[in-house]
Parts: sequence; structure tokens; C-alpha cells
Amino acid sequence: MEAEAARERIKQLSAELDEHDHRYYVLAAPTISDFEFDKLLKELETLEKAWPRFASPNSPTQRVGGAVSKDFPLVMHRYPMLSLSNSYNREEVAEFVARVEKEIGATTYVTELKYDGVAISLTYENGELVRGVTRGDGEKGDDITGNVRTVRSIPLKLRGDFPERFEARGEILFMREQFERLNAERARNGEEPYANPRNTAAGSLKQQDPRDVAKRRLDNFIYTLQGEELPTRSHFENMLAARAWGFKTPDPARRFIERTTDVEGIMAFIAYWDKARHELEMDIDGVVVKVDDLRIQEELGNTAKSPRWAIAFKFQAEQAVTRLNDVTYQVGRTGAVTPVAELEPVLLAGTTVKRASLHNADQVAKLDLHFGDHVLVEKGGEIIPKIIGVDLTKRSMGASPVVFPTVCPECGTALVRYEGEAQHYCPNEHACPPQITGRIEHFVGRKMMNIDGLGGETVGLLVREGLIANVADLYDLSRDQLLGLGKGWGEKSADLVINGIAASRATPFEQVLFALGIRHVGETVAKKLARSVGSMDKLMGLGQAELVAIDEVGAVIAQSVVDFFAVEGNRRIVERLRQKGVQMEVDPSMVRKVGDKLKGLTFVVSGVFRNFSRDGIKEAIEQHGGKVSGSISSRTAYLLAGSDMGPAKRAKAEALNVKIVDEDDFMRMIEE
Ligand code: IVH
Repeated sequence: MEAEAARERIKQLSAELDEHDHRYYVLAAPTISDFEFDKLLKELETLEKAWPRFASPNSPTQRVGGAVSKDFPLVMHRYPMLSLSNSYNREEVAEFVARVEKEIGATTYVTELKYDGVAISLTYENGELVRGVTRGDGEKGDDITGNVRTVRSIPLKLRGDFPERFEARGEILFMREQFERLNAERARNGEEPYANPRNTAAGSLKQQDPRDVAKRRLDNFIYTLQGEELPTRSHFENMLAARAWGFKTPDPARRFIERTTDVEGIMAFIAYWDKARHELEMDIDGVVVKVDDLRIQEELGNTAKSPRWAIAFKFQAEQAVTRLNDVTYQVGRTGAVTPVAELEPVLLAGTTVKRASLHNADQVAKLDLHFGDHVLVEKGGEIIPKIIGVDLTKRSMGASPVVFPTVCPECGTALVRYEGEAQHYCPNEHACPPQITGRIEHFVGRKMMNIDGLGGETVGLLVREGLIANVADLYDLSRDQLLGLGKGWGEKSADLVINGIAASRATPFEQVLFALGIRHVGETVAKKLARSVGSMDKLMGLGQAELVAIDEVGAVIAQSVVDFFAVEGNRRIVERLRQKGVQMEVDPSMVRKVGDKLKGLTFVVSGVFRNFSRDGIKEAIEQHGGKVSGSISSRTAYLLAGSDMGPAKRAKAEALNVKIVDEDDFMRMIEE
């Protein structure tokens, strides 16, 4: 394709994809299917790879994650980011109104939701997002622009008539659905669920690889504009304007934002949301009352920390008292033992609560729980209710304390607790029933071996019937054995399972590795290991130190891999899987070849790049026939230096006469 044609097509695709993002993530009214969207995105990705000089940092392709950052630079806020003064009862809100009116007379107020997330300041210049900064200490915050770009409801380019330069401020948060999806995925990987959406959103935004942030599927609401040339002097009108530019702002039609001129209007809004908040798709922790007129806001001014023209009314975290009937213990596929409080059912925040997680032995000890206790259950930002205290006055004489078991409640093996971990584990990996079924269930899962027709229930049945005891046994199952299971097992369902198992042998190696259920080896780590090591044989031969040398593999993961393969039983299972034809190495045809401009050249990559993530640039080298190595030697052809490269690397390259090239040089090397 000619350069001019490529540039045009990139521009056109970008605009089209931006529009679809807006329709999907802001308006919730998509007009094309995910499939069609992905097709357009793929086309753009391919074009940008071939023509990197036409790729913009605000391209829709950056939504899935651009360059990795080491540290987030600290930047000054142009306008300080204040916080709101809080009130917990309606009287204080009435006092606020009285104070305002005494000072400036009758005025209009805006009431809106107080989102429970992480504050963000977004700077736009000429309609393009140029910076996203956290609140920090209010004066300066972290520049997390690359991560912010992955939040799909934040527009990268604006539409309509916007000021040349301004800041949009708002809250980055999890919609409940996405938070639950994330936790379900963690559960499938044998990881602890995250306790609360707000902290998880904050943690997500601090990740160094934007691709990881993109996977979290965060959302955003804008709640204020800052700038010298805002469209109107009304906060409410400005929010409507921002909506027209493409931002996700509070929807008046859903009463997310309202204008009122008196205390009654404010109280009605509070009363409405005190109830309705439980049905919302995200968490709010209160409502905010603001003076609408920006000039009056200015007149009222700020105290040291918060504006005098606004107040937050915070909802009480919902609590209820109920009886602790029992404590049960769940054993997960990794052997982790989690205590669960079995409660007398109680209505809390709109749902009936029967159980609450007690997390671990420390938590049980801290609460000093006794059977039959009256416990205080709270559902705040968390999805899973928690027990925050015990009413000691109601404890009956002779109540027996809850004692954490010393043996596995499922198989009787003595529990162990690893150094530095709060969780107890049952070490009887190969004979503890829930661990056996849990591991097999994990193995057959969609993102692992993806075996059709095998769900949790069927796996449980097969284990109970003694037909399988580990994942390798699946490949010895016969059709007749399944037909012999009796009720519900016709030819059709048996064939489905047998064919599904047979087909799973083609599953790519990285998924096989994930499917094995090695502790701490989730989807991403498995991919990483598979791609950098290449085969099961090589992986099994690596020691702790060699594993740690792999990018993004830490000591804990490395040890866990070593421990896994040190177990004879695990090695035997891997061997049997290999004999059954399961993939044990990376399929070389999966590494897409683009060209061979870099054939015979070995690169060492260091630092941070503008247009590539660290992995992305390595992939680009390999796609053009080059090799990537971890350390500089006389065989290294080029040191590819990004920003922030350490001086030691540079010195070594110079000492060995290795040529140092930057990202632009590299682009030229692979272009045309
Ligand atoms: S206005 C000068 N409006 O609450 C105050 N803040 O303690 C500017 N928040 O850090 C903030 N929803 O992150 C405002 N509708 C809303 C809000 C909101 C949530 C957060 C914000 C701020 C904190 C204030």
C-alpha cells in the first residue's frame, strides 16, 4: 500500500473505531457486533505495524495497552485537587445550605452521585487526551496516561466544540459486573478474590504494563471540568456539554445528576439514592451537593483542603446483627483452606446474607469468634459481606470458641502454613477429594484445555465413580465407560465428551501450561513462560535462578514452578499427557513472520519505548527474523535502547563495541 493511502485508511479506521467505542462504552448502544469491531481493530493494528510513523499515541489500538512504564512521573496539578468535606447526617447538609444562603442568598444546587473509585485528572489539548494524573497529595500526582488510555469510556479524541485546553476530572471505578467477572476468573485460577472494587481499581491503575490494566475493564465517570474557557458558568450545563464532547457524565434521565433550588430537593435526592443505590451497576458511597454557579463557587472559595461550595453526604455502610450458626471450611484446588461463617439469614443492603468469608485463621482469632455469637455483618464497598465484630454482651455462658482445624476437614491430613502466608493449606495434593476435582475442573476450563461437555458436575461424578483421579486419566476414558454411568448418559453426551477430550490435544502449549494449575502460574504467567522457554522439557530443566531471569517472573513464581516439577507424580502426569499427544511445545507457526530484515541479528532490549511495550518490541524483532537475548555479549548485534536505560548496559555495550540504536532507528530498520 502507498504511504498516502495507508495514512488515510489509518485515519478513517481510527475515527470509525473511536465512534464505536463511544457508542458501546459511553452510550451503551453499540451499532456493530464485537466481531466486526475486532475486524476493524485488527486491520488498524496491522496497518500501524507496517507504518509505525502514522500511529498516534491516542490510536484506538492503545486501548489494549501501549508502552510499559517503570515509574510513573510525578507531575504538578495545574489546579489543586481538593477533597470534599463529609457529612453523615441530613442536619449537616441543611446547615451547609443555610451557610451558603447566609453568605450569598438564594441559589441553585446540583446534586449528584458520589462515586466510590479513584480520582483522576484528564488534560485535553486541542481535543486530544494528553495526560491522565492521579490525585496524589492533591498538589501533585502520578502521570498514568498509558493506563488511563485503556479505560474505554474515557475519550482519547473529543467531538464537537470544546475548549482548546481544559481538564476533565472524574472517578475511575469498576462496574460491579466487571469486578465480579475479575473475581470469578481469579477463583478459577486458584487465586484469592479481591475484597473491594475501589482498592482493586486503585491497584489496577498502578500496574506497569497497560495491557494488564486493559484486561481489568475499568470504567469512568466525569464529575467536573476545570479550565479558563469552559462553555458556561453553570456546572450542570458544563456536564451536559462534556457529554456532547464524548465523556461519560452523570445521566440526568436516570437521576444521576439533578438541579434544585432548595433543601427539600436535596433531601429528596438523598432519600431516593439511599434506597436505589443497591440496584446501581456500580458502588457509590454517598451523594454530593454543589453550588451550580461557578462564579458563586469562586466567591465562596475553599478552605485549606475542601471547597466551601460543596458537601458530600455519605451513606452509612449497611450493617446487621445476626447469629453465627457454624463455621465451615472450604478446600480449594490449590489446597487453600478458607473458613466460612454460616449465618442465620439476614437482610442486608437489599440481599439476604447467609454466609460470610472469614478469610483465614488470623481473622478468626482476631474476632475471637464463639459458636452462637451475635455478629455484626457489614456490606460496604465489598461485594462479599464481612464480619466486623461480635456483640459480647449476647454471648451465652459456656459458648465454645471457634478453633481453626489442624487437619484438613476433607481428608484428615495435617494442615501446613507456609512462611509469609496467612492461608493454611492441605498438602495432600493427590488424594484430597476437593483438590483432585478442583484441579481437573480447572484443567478442562474454557481458557485452559476448553473441553466441551465437561463441567464441574460431570468431573465430580467421574471422580466419585473412580474413573479419573488426575488430568491424565481423562485421556484414557472410553465411550463405554461413560455410557456405563447410567442415567442421562446417552451416545450423544458420551461422544461430546470423548470428542472434546480428543480435540483438546491440539490446545496450544501456553494453555496446557496454565491448565496444569501450578500455583501462581495464571493465564498471563503461563503465556510468558511458554513463549520465553518454548517447551515443557526446557521448562522442567530450569532452576530457580534461571526462571527468575525471565522477564516478569519473580522468586515466588519461580519457586512454585520448581516445586511443582520436583514432585514425581506431577512429572508422571506430564509424561502421560505427552504420550497422549497433548502439546508440549510452542507451535513455531504461531510466531507470525512479517519479514526477514533482521535475519541473523541478535538484539538486547532495554528501557521503555513509546510505540511498543517491552514484549511488543521483542515480538517485532522476532517477526522480522531477528533474535532477542537477555544479556549483552560480543555476539550481540544491537542494543535497542528505550528511555530510562541504565548506564551499566550502555557502558557494557560500548566496551564490547555493540552498536546502540534507539526506537526510531529500529523503526527505520524494519520499515519497507
Ligand atoms: S467533586 C473539590 N463530585 O470524592 C472537590 N467528587 O472527597 C472536587 N468524588 O477526590 C470533587 N464523586 O474523587 C466530586 N460527584 C463527585 C464525586 C467526587 C466522587 C470523589 C473525588 C474526590 C472525593 C472527595
